[in-house]
Amino acid sequence: MAKRESRWVCQQCNWSYARHMGRCPNCGAWDSLVEVLLETEANTTTAATPRLSQRPQPLSQVDVGAVDRIPVSMREFARVLGGGLVPGSIVLIGGEPGIGKSTLLLQVAAALGAAERPVLYVSGEESPQQIKMRAKRLGIQGDPLYLLSETEAGAILAQANAMLPTLQALVVDSVQTVHTEDLTSAAGNISQVRECAARFQRWAKESNVPVFLVGHVTKEGAIAGPKVLEHIVDTVLYLEGDPFHTYRLLRSVKNRFGATSEVGVFEMQEQGLTEVANPSEAFLAERMVNVPGSAIAVTLEGTRPLLVEIQALASHTSFGNPRRTVNGLDFNRLLLTIAVLIRRVGLRLDEQDVFANVVGGLQIEEPAADLAVAVALASSLRDQPVPADLAVVGEVGLSGEVRSVGQLEARLNEAARLGFTKILIPRAMQNKRLRPPQGLTLLPVRSVGEAIDAALGPKR
Ligand SMILES: Nc1ncnc2c1ncn2[C@@H]1O[C@H](COP(=O)(O)OP(=O)(O)O)[C@@H](O)[C@H]1O
Ligand SMILES: [Mg+2]
Repeated sequence: MAKRESRWVCQQCNWSYARHMGRCPNCGAWDSLVEVLLETEANTTTAATPRLSQRPQPLSQVDVGAVDRIPVSMREFARVLGGGLVPGSIVLIGGEPGIGKSTLLLQVAAALGAAERPVLYVSGEESPQQIKMRAKRLGIQGDPLYLLSETEAGAILAQANAMLPTLQALVVDSVQTVHTEDLTSAAGNISQVRECAARFQRWAKESNVPVFLVGHVTKEGAIAGPKVLEHIVDTVLYLEGDPFHTYRLLRSVKNRFGATSEVGVFEMQEQGLTEVANPSEAFLAERMVNVPGSAIAVTLEGTRPLLVEIQALASHTSFGNPRRTVNGLDFNRLLLTIAVLIRRVGLRLDEQDVFANVVGGLQIEEPAADLAVAVALASSLRDQPVPADLAVVGEVGLSGEVRSVGQLEARLNEAARLGFTKILIPRAMQNKRLRPPQGLTLLPVRSVGEAIDAALGPKR
């Protein structure tokens, strides 16, 4: 095939050039030129002729037809996908290097493949020998898995085409190592990543074979990372977790075939990622009860309520400026909670170094965990433990008020299921037709001060 022509287009001013330059001579923007393929004649004619087979049709006549999903035996993975894998869909799995993307996809590939329906796993990062070694560690064997070490998009698709009638799925690890010879820029460059992803996307739609792409995210917020691909693919999943902990969360941030912000919980072990069917239990497993500075928050990850332990430690500051250190919580929300405790409740946290931590390496973005942070802090400062069977739910406002949270009933049910008998909830949510589960007493509170009194009892 003849090499297609390309131009370098400035992403700021849309001026285009025949070759790459560090700075756009037109608008002066640095590093803004991106290589794009020129439209070929064939492309322009198809774009100009409307496809008459696709006429507008009344909503009532649109045939929904159940989407036949390919079952995935890894239940947590299937859950994040929205119940199974849709044929012809393209799924991007993003995550930091070393978090376990290749491990996860090798396991998924093995789970999807069958003797008569193999999966092609293409790696641009590792040789088949390296992958074989990992597969051995993960206990994966057998022939439903085909390995290929290749980085040229056209060559990958040619190999995939050759396996076509029976190919179950294609895995490309990673999209940053793939390039097309039609573009002169290096693999991993934004234009290469975008063009290759678009080709895989077209191929998936044409062949009706699902494609998985791995995309690296770097701490510096890589330009050519998964972000630039989010609009091209059907589903975007992020694998997250603290590398020093074993828990990994697979979170869907975009899904054309299911709910977004659905979360699957895994544990990284020698044998690979194992599914955690009962994450709340896992996160609370090592909890010490009757220790000051710990409170149980009921957060929501996607549609799933999760109980997590929030730990706080207040210790007298030996320097002028008290320190605030946080792990797993939003730093600014911690500052806000501390300020509210100082001004509205009168706690002397201005003289204390504060450390706050979410156990298990989880990252909690949700404000509904605020109240648990406040209670844990007060508990540490007063050196009084929170009762072991008390859970805490509520957002904290600037006036010290406890504000409503979403999906309270799901949270109550999860707390009850794990044996909690009391739960602090926002007062405003009490009068709604709330049916608390058996055995769970609701303790409605209006303010942080009330919550602390309810949790710790009178000041000793
Ligand atoms: N022998 C092992 N036992 C347990 N965990 C391992 C072992 N070898 C590798 N790992 C885990 O696998 C991770 C690397 O996974 P990998 O799938 O290669 O990540 P990615 O593809 O996202 O870069 C390591 O960070 C480590 O946590
Ligand atoms: Mg990898």
